[in-house]
Amino acid sequence: MATITVLDKVFESYIPHEKIEAVIEKMVIEMEHNLADKNPLFLVILNGAFMFAGDLFKKLHFPAEISFIKFVSYSGTQSSGHVRQLMGLDESVEGRTVVLVEDIVDTGISMEKVLEYLSDKKIKDLHIATLLFKPNSYKKHFKIDYIGLEIPNDFIIGYGLDYNGQARNLKDIYKIVH
Ligand code: IMP
Ligand code: MG
Repeated sequence: MATITVLDKVFESYIPHEKIEAVIEKMVIEMEHNLADKNPLFLVILNGAFMFAGDLFKKLHFPAEISFIKFVSYSGTQSSGHVRQLMGLDESVEGRTVVLVEDIVDTGISMEKVLEYLSDKKIKDLHIATLLFKPNSYKKHFKIDYIGLEIPNDFIIGYGLDYNGQARNLKDIYKIVH
């Protein structure tokens, strides 16, 4: 199998772009069902979700808006558990349907911080969409409305996901070998 080296680690191909596309198309069908008449605001959690959000948003065939927030949590290949807000909302979300867009929910700590940040914003209806979910690592209890794929606990990169800032540009997803 083809491997790539990023900084000091080796990764192998894991989820090809065609599979990612198919997964997103499935998520869009579910979303159409629930959101088509709600003019939802897709609130993208930077940096990791930028590529997923772009592909997802292009596939939507109903009125929707998009905006971005940024928190910082991860360093290296382990979730640090520390989360800091760097870029907040610049529009009102009061009375709106909001869909949080995340690349991956691992422990759930980052998403919980985002939910705390949004808790006093008077959102009418809050949905969570994540491309990837690591159920064996998940420590929280909030409901995730749209999950693209469930994956084991391996560290992955590509398609927006990074290793120390590198590899976000890869169009496929790779998993760590060593
Ligand atoms: P959590 O707080 O543990 O749920 O981690 C969520 C955040 O950590 C995600 O938004 C990602 O940015 C990052 N993350 C989690 N797992 C991975 C991974 O396997 N590769 C790269 N980043 C990850
Ligand atoms: Mg992320």
